[in-house]
Amino acid sequence: MSAEIYYFSGAGNSFAAARDIAAKLKGDLIAIPSLMNQESIETDADVVGLVFPVYYAEYRGVPLIVWRFIEKLENLSSKYIFAVAVHSGGPDVTIQHLADHISNHGGKLSGGFTFKMDVPYPVSAKLKKAFFGKDLGDPSSYPGMAAEQKKVYQDWKLKLAEITSYVSSRGEGTLETLSPAAKALRAIFLPLRRLMFMGRYKQLAGESRKHFYELVPLADRSFRITENCNSCGICAKVCPVANIEITDGGPGWLHHCENCYACFKWCPENAISGKIVEYAIRNHHPGVGVKDFINQRQGG
Ligand SMILES: Cc1cc2nc3c(=O)[nH]c(=O)nc-3n(C[C@H](O)[C@H](O)[C@H](O)COP(=O)(O)O)c2cc1C
Ligand code: SF4
Ligand code: SF4
Repeated sequence: MSAEIYYFSGAGNSFAAARDIAAKLKGDLIAIPSLMNQESIETDADVVGLVFPVYYAEYRGVPLIVWRFIEKLENLSSKYIFAVAVHSGGPDVTIQHLADHISNHGGKLSGGFTFKMDVPYPVSAKLKKAFFGKDLGDPSSYPGMAAEQKKVYQDWKLKLAEITSYVSSRGEGTLETLSPAAKALRAIFLPLRRLMFMGRYKQLAGESRKHFYELVPLADRSFRITENCNSCGICAKVCPVANIEITDGGPGWLHHCENCYACFKWCPENAISGKIVEYAIRNHHPGVGVKDFINQRQGG
């Protein structure tokens, strides 16, 4: 069995997961952004793995770049395809959207897994911020978040064993998505959730567009830099899609953003802020370094 594990990552969780899976399956680890300048992408591998973070489960859940990558992949029908979507507690029906997208391009998602690898601020704290402007504060001020995060990394080892054993035996039928009851509940609240998201993204982009995914690349207009910036250029290097250029005044965003937050998370001076990251935590996977991110665009 020859396996290729394709990944996209902003804060290292998907990268770490993909690296572990590739090691266990003795497969190749390939960064999706490093291939995106190709018109179409061919692979000789029998097994194709996709590892990515869930973005906007209110919509597709699959990051734009991963969505487009699937459209470029050739000969999907001859591959055994599996996917792992890492998330922070709400993957919703991401795997179902992915399965449908792969199927529309002639392939079949034989195994679709989700794994919570990130512990966000509690929902109650986010609501207090959204409705009463209460500052979220330091993550360390929330007892339990650090402990939960530690447990998540431990639990990953079990999930890794489950996924790799499933793929090694060419399992079929596992698509981790919502139960029918949860789907029905989701459908009730979805219009409201989408309305709120559209409103927020119109604000971030500073303009109105018909489709949510037209606003995503423009949301970088809401990034700000502080006086701590020393123009080191690391944000530009870690950006997986070359969406940042450094000028005399520091970083400038070029409006084809994937919203991965790598620039915000990897800035050594914590000099990046803005409305787009007002609910985000400046963390990254402990087993991943800046070099891994620079490699993401260049390959490797
Ligand atoms: C723009 C954006 C949107 C996100 N949307 C969701 C979401 O809808 N549901 C969820 O569970 N997590 C969501 N997340 C959290 C990520 O899936 C999670 O932090 C993941 O571990 C990041 O993986 P990475 O370290 O590989 O970038 C979102 C993160 C970002 C940056
Ligand atoms: S990484 Fe931070 S300090 Fe370096 S150029 Fe970017 S914003 Fe400035
Ligand atoms: S500009 Fe920042 S958030 Fe946007 S894709 Fe690049 S690193 Fe990610």
